[in-house]
Amino acid sequence: MKPLALLSDFAHITLEDLKAATEPLGEYRSLLCEIAESGVYEKRESSICLPSDKGQYERVLECAQRYQGAQLKYVIVVGIGGSNLGAKAVYEAMRTTTDWLTDRHPKLVFVDTLNSRLVQQAIGALSKCAAPEEFVVNVISKSGLTTETIANLEVLYRHITKMFGDKGKERMVATTDEGSSLARVFSSTDAAHLSIPGQVGGRYSVFSAVGLFPLALAGLDIGMLLRGAREMRDLCLRNKKIEKNPALHGAALLYEHHRREISISNTFFFDPELESVGKWYRQLMAESIGKGGGNTSAGITPIVSVGSTDLHSMIQLYLGGPRDKFTTFVYPHRFRPDERVPERPAVRQVVEGIAGKRYSEIMLAILEGVKAAYRKRHIPFAEVMLPEVNEFYLGQYLQMKMIEMMYLAKLLGVNAFDQPDVEAYKEETRKLLES
Ligand code: PA5
Repeated sequence: MKPLALLSDFAHITLEDLKAATEPLGEYRSLLCEIAESGVYEKRESSICLPSDKGQYERVLECAQRYQGAQLKYVIVVGIGGSNLGAKAVYEAMRTTTDWLTDRHPKLVFVDTLNSRLVQQAIGALSKCAAPEEFVVNVISKSGLTTETIANLEVLYRHITKMFGDKGKERMVATTDEGSSLARVFSSTDAAHLSIPGQVGGRYSVFSAVGLFPLALAGLDIGMLLRGAREMRDLCLRNKKIEKNPALHGAALLYEHHRREISISNTFFFDPELESVGKWYRQLMAESIGKGGGNTSAGITPIVSVGSTDLHSMIQLYLGGPRDKFTTFVYPHRFRPDERVPERPAVRQVVEGIAGKRYSEIMLAILEGVKAAYRKRHIPFAEVMLPEVNEFYLGQYLQMKMIEMMYLAKLLGVNAFDQPDVEAYKEETRKLLES
């Protein structure tokens, strides 16, 4: 299948400059190739081994088969940050953000932060279950120490054991680091637990059990997700040429704009169902490069916009405000079967030119209009065209972005894999709660 396309004709950076920017990455690219070929989880970059890790794929499928069944209605995913954003991104892109309005099951319900109504709604869903086979609670925490996740787990656990006793406990699955306290607690029960390779950090974990298990339970094709990731990974590691390597290309664009003091990266999705993909990417960028290091201490600020909704709130700023943003429009080439405006409009002579047109046609016309306005004002932008929104191309996109971030961090001289300041606030919170 054809890979997604990254186009930068209007990015205002010459191909020579892009090539020059990525020259220092030659050795690092070779190192990434070696890591992917070894399949060994020893280095911080080891998440690139996940798309071809057959053992892990089979363990996830086996575990999913144990819990799947015609009765399964709700999968409550308890986790936050890197432990929930990847699965949420793929699920909402495939099943829409308004899936809760449909009768389709099984549904994923994401419980991330501490919100009483959110956890009550999850309890409401569990209360409708007549038997434990109708639900799974998947608690995901790499460290096993995250305050919000453990608080939500406690509330759900109390409810489940009250309703279903030991049978309920068996429907709880933990996904965590092998040595975490959560793994110890779960291995002493009949519930299953899945592990995350030690070197794979939260924001790089979507192709581990963290993302794969809930998505498999929801009936999504995780094999295709991994295949897309694998094909993209090989492209982004093996190709020296920027034109054939979207991760190198993307990293060079961001780096060159950052050097020119354009340090806000706006990913503008022209498909509202991709908004959570944007939120996943926002975390990936913010936590990977928002820190001090060799030649930077500022990072690049990621923002997410959704077309066409945000044209009615943000475009004035984007077109008329400070020239401090580099925009990447992301859109599908082929939209899902879509609605058509009636041939004979009820409201005549108000909005011309929409009669008989599909929503996708109108949306693409709006996107073309926005790009034309950017061009006229000489505001730089790039484009990512997804041939289709499906598991395969979502796998490609997520993998491209993770490798792009590794390259970008290398160019900026920062560690893409730590998050010292996130740990700092977690530590302070624990102290306050324990005092
Ligand atoms: O990417 C990260 O490392 C963080 O966003 C974590 O995923 C997040 O803080 C949750 O941590 P944990 O999975 O340990 O509960």
